[in-house]
Amino acid sequence: MPETVSPATPASPEAEITAALGTRSVVLIGMMGAGKSTIGRRLSARLRLPFLDADSEIEAAASMSIPDIFETHGEPHFRNGEARVIARLLDSGPAVLATGGGAFMREDTRARIGAKAVSIWLKADLDIIMKRVKRRADRPLLQTADPAATVGRLISEREPVYKSADITILSRDVPHEKIVDECIYALHGWVCGGAGKLASNTLSHS
Ligand code: S3P
Repeated sequence: MPETVSPATPASPEAEITAALGTRSVVLIGMMGAGKSTIGRRLSARLRLPFLDADSEIEAAASMSIPDIFETHGEPHFRNGEARVIARLLDSGPAVLATGGGAFMREDTRARIGAKAVSIWLKADLDIIMKRVKRRADRPLLQTADPAATVGRLISEREPVYKSADITILSRDVPHEKIVDECIYALHGWVCGGAGKLASNTLSHS
């Protein structure tokens, strides 16, 4: 009897990505209000990976809110804790990890992300950021006389560094799943080789 071989079911783009990632994580970077947690949570569901939020993990490790850490111990203390927490989370991959806006500015953190993850910069412009950060008053860096000027300054200081991320996705006011689709498409090109190998219409939420 000839052996019958059933045709292989094509793997989904998401499954191909997680297979190619191995133990590497996907790290979302970018300014506050860029949508790192919102998009990260949805991306983790699509990739069937755990979602980790560095800010929440820092708060849990310190048993304190971020505004309280800033107020009681100051920003340098927060930044050291942030770098330690992100190092630990990267060692527990694979996961989708949303980082705070300042995390990627540290060289040691950037090097760790480069070694243990694929980074996605969610790039948002000033107007979008201001619209979104107005909804919450828990960002210590924005407790200034002119928050828009502060965000503008942070954007110009940080964007030259953010742009060294592996992938850049424009964060804008479109349905979240559209941004997630774009992340999946770009990740597939990055980790599975050959940008454009995956037709965008093969994505389940296009
Ligand atoms: C910060 C961003 C915040 C938080 C802290 C400092 C920053 O996180 O880590 O308030 O330096 O931009 P989000 O980017 O998640 O708001």
